[in-house]
Amino acid sequence: MSSDGKPSTYRYDETPVYTSSSGCPVFDPEGSQRVGQNGPLLLQDFHLIDLLAHFDRERIPERVVHAKGAGAYGEFEVTHDITDICSADMFSEIGKKTKCITRFSTVGGEKGSADSARDPRGFAIKFYTNDGNWDWVFNNTPIFFLRDPSKFPLFIHTQKRNPQTNLKDATMFWDYLSTHQEAVHQVMHLFSDRGTPYSYRHMNGYSGHTYKFTKPDGCFKYVQIHLKTDQGSKTFTNDEAGRMASENPDWHTQDLFDAIDRGEYPSWTVYIQVLDPAEAEKFRWNIFDLTKVWPQGEVPLRPIGKFTLNKNPENYFAEIEQAAFSPSHMVPGAEPSADPVLQSRLFSYPDTHRHRLGTNYQQIPVNCPMRAFNPYQRDGFMAVNGNYGANPNYPSSFRPLVHKPVQPFQQREQWAGPSVNFQFAITDDDYVQPNGLWQVLGRTPGQQDNFVYNVASHLNAARPEVREKTYEMFTKVNGDLGARIRKLTEEKAKASNQSRL
Ligand code: NDP
Ligand code: HEM
Repeated sequence: MSSDGKPSTYRYDETPVYTSSSGCPVFDPEGSQRVGQNGPLLLQDFHLIDLLAHFDRERIPERVVHAKGAGAYGEFEVTHDITDICSADMFSEIGKKTKCITRFSTVGGEKGSADSARDPRGFAIKFYTNDGNWDWVFNNTPIFFLRDPSKFPLFIHTQKRNPQTNLKDATMFWDYLSTHQEAVHQVMHLFSDRGTPYSYRHMNGYSGHTYKFTKPDGCFKYVQIHLKTDQGSKTFTNDEAGRMASENPDWHTQDLFDAIDRGEYPSWTVYIQVLDPAEAEKFRWNIFDLTKVWPQGEVPLRPIGKFTLNKNPENYFAEIEQAAFSPSHMVPGAEPSADPVLQSRLFSYPDTHRHRLGTNYQQIPVNCPMRAFNPYQRDGFMAVNGNYGANPNYPSSFRPLVHKPVQPFQQREQWAGPSVNFQFAITDDDYVQPNGLWQVLGRTPGQQDNFVYNVASHLNAARPEVREKTYEMFTKVNGDLGARIRKLTEEKAKASNQSRL
């Protein structure tokens, strides 16, 4: 059996006969058939040809972002009652436990890239609830680089490789960020030491987006979800992260696996921030703007549960590489908000899963919900669940679909207005929370110095005019910050120019 209790392709409790993939006993698993001792191979050797042909197809597309990752199984336990605002089955009573799988990741690097790179980290969880899979596809930062989803592919291109040189490119990187300054809040997080976490166990997770928690009577609240590490937040400095990239590029993967193997199960305390729709309308910040947090002084954290990882996968490819998370995998009691970035993600993830894993990706064991019954979805590559047998694949009048009643979808918000070209102009407000973070960094000795050093170490490789725009951006956040970044970056640029002469 595989680790989730589902049948695997062979049993461990008996000595198998080695066979071809079609089950035919094979004399020598490592041998091939040929004519005589030195003659050519035989086309009839299905085992050899199948082995090679399968190997030729072993790789599937890596995730277009978040390609490098590690994961484990765990559970969520309700510690506080929130049935007053949410009817999700997972939260139905204190003490209730729900099984889940988690995948942590870096964002910009390829599948073989270093774990300790400066990057946001993905924090994705699939809860196998009684009402279907509920995926929390979060990051370790409470905000993001953009609030208009059409910018996502453009932005990601600048964080990956130059189309001509195929190199990471500091000019592209900062050129985008300094000309799309709604990103500055996330840049502040990225270049603080939290941009290089010590391990996946030592970082927080945040929904970032606003979601809705709902009740069957039609009422709802806006929420943001926070998972705070019980291991304590721990980070690498810029130089430590750089060294780790060469000493052990898989450090985060190894740390997670080894800790769980030792029985040191990492856990996170889960909180929500809650806003009533009427409060949200008057709120100082636009709750659908992904570049803003809800200040914790104004919207306190309410504890809801504990999330623990306690089991390693048995097979990385089957259980982690093939895991398919999507913000659109939701359950009754939770709904997306109108945040445009979230709305676009609802489409993008299942779309990429169909490309990466195939149209029947939900049938892969790690993705299978506890139960599903949707016989109008049939056929397609790799339909391995019996394909609903002889059930009608249309609403048959003489063999109608028999199913239990379910609450209808309820309209909770009313939207009206002309169709417009979406524009979210940059205003002075965009620099207020980044300055708040600069002040937060000032509470811990050395954190502001590290921030300036981290930016300067990267920015000095960009072209002078891009550096200039970037100083202007940081100066809008805070005058002292802008001046300090300018000074150190120019010193580093000069030093690196001289070393090239
Ligand atoms: P608070 O003083 O109430 O909270 C500040 C939060 O900052 C802390 O709770 C902590 O979040 C986080 N923090 C502490 N040290 C660091 C660090 N070195 N790098 C990044 N984050 C850190 O202030 P506000 O809620 O008014 O927020 C002030 C600033 O803090 C914001 O501009 C935002 O960038 C940042 N922040 C806010 C969060 C929020 O949801 N309101 C969450 C995280 C950061 P935690 O305990 O989650 O680690
Ligand atoms: C992965 C798209 C923003 C968190 C991905 C993937 C795509 C994608 C295509 C690859 C998925 C796969 O192959 O399985 C987008 C788009 C975004 C966006 C279009 C904005 C318009 C965000 C934000 C967050 C986030 C704001 C966090 C709040 C993640 C995580 C993964 C991921 C955690 C990895 C999931 C895994 O481990 O399999 N994203 N993303 N993304 N994204 Fe996003």
